[in-house]
Amino acid sequence: MNPLLSRLQPYPFERLRQLFAGVTPNPAYAPISLGMGEPKHATPAFIRQALADALKGLESYPATAGEAPLRAAFTGWLQRRYALALDPATQVLPVNGSREALFAFAQTVIDPNRPAATVVCPNPFYQIYEGAALLAGANAWYAPSVASRNFAVDWDSVPEDVWRHTQLVFVCSPGNPTGAVMPLDEWKKLFELSDRFGFVIASDECYSEIYFRDEPPLGGLQAAAQLGRTDYRNLVAFTSLSKRSNVPGLRSGFVAGDAAILKSFLLYRTYHGSAMSPVVQAASIAAWGDEAHVVDNRAQYREKFAQVTPLLEPVLDVRLPDASFYLWAGIPARFGGDDAAFARELFALYNVTVLPGSFLARESLDFNPGKGRVRMALVAPTAECVQAAQRIVEFVSSSTTQAS
Ligand SMILES: Cc1ncc(COP(=O)(O)O)c(C=O)c1O
Repeated sequence: MNPLLSRLQPYPFERLRQLFAGVTPNPAYAPISLGMGEPKHATPAFIRQALADALKGLESYPATAGEAPLRAAFTGWLQRRYALALDPATQVLPVNGSREALFAFAQTVIDPNRPAATVVCPNPFYQIYEGAALLAGANAWYAPSVASRNFAVDWDSVPEDVWRHTQLVFVCSPGNPTGAVMPLDEWKKLFELSDRFGFVIASDECYSEIYFRDEPPLGGLQAAAQLGRTDYRNLVAFTSLSKRSNVPGLRSGFVAGDAAILKSFLLYRTYHGSAMSPVVQAASIAAWGDEAHVVDNRAQYREKFAQVTPLLEPVLDVRLPDASFYLWAGIPARFGGDDAAFARELFALYNVTVLPGSFLARESLDFNPGKGRVRMALVAPTAECVQAAQRIVEFVSSSTTQAS
């Protein structure tokens, strides 16, 4: 067996399963899960229809690079969303959801034979970054994002010696779980570091269309263009239809950026066998070409967050994020920072599932930046999310015991 497999950490939901093992939730309450970040809004009918209409495409093997209309759908969207003109022949590639692409990208980029191969990740983070780094033969370095810096990742905390060995940096903007969007000056800093140390930046942007401010979130490619880096050197952005169009089951996204890196990525993907089904290509072209359903989807999240956040504000350290569909909430001090105990008791007494923040982060620089926080995914219908919030308010208000 590949010995690197033994370095993988249990996935947060496996840890949650273990945490809840043996707990019988209060039967007086119907279960409500704010645990998994899986979109629950309805898939638009026109996307289902496009899938059904494309079934004739099954007779042939698809090309890994995708068909020309699909690539044109990607560059068309980048043009409309970010006013960027990318070359559909060389600067975009289809992927089967951003998760597999983030993983595969590390296998393409990392040279494990260089000394102390390192991948820098935000902390807390999407755990695929860490697994991708470890299975590529690199070590992960965790750069914290904490409340006192508005959850901006502290790139300055990474020591020079770590940068010297860094081959890949994962950016997650809007962030999971923090919802923070990386501003232009942070991008500038990261690009300068990339120029100095030669690392590649993988910018994970799958929450870019779910935002709560007037301005849509700045994208990595957009930041590069604004800073005059129109060749997108050492930068690849990852985006996905899963959250934007409520099709996590479709497995469809794309990557865009540095043409030389994408050439190597295409080579890797050809061997890995990750071509997108022609049926999925057809549905994806339809989805990227329509914005009305995205506006409607965003409006549903905005309504939900507008109702839930004020309910929770008096009892938890929580505020409306820049973007994403998560609330990243600090638990009251009397729980002693024990987010796992908070989640377990809430589940036992009120049958509401939240994810302990420490499960989404690593102890690094002597602290776990997820400690004392919980992640709530507001994916269920508004009425259910409101009910969960009301139960959390009751739980926190009535809970007098120190969590054990
Ligand atoms: C930060 C982040 N990146 C990537 C993904 C993967 O999404 P998909 O593979 O559906 O595109 C997720 C899914 O939850 C996520 O939270």
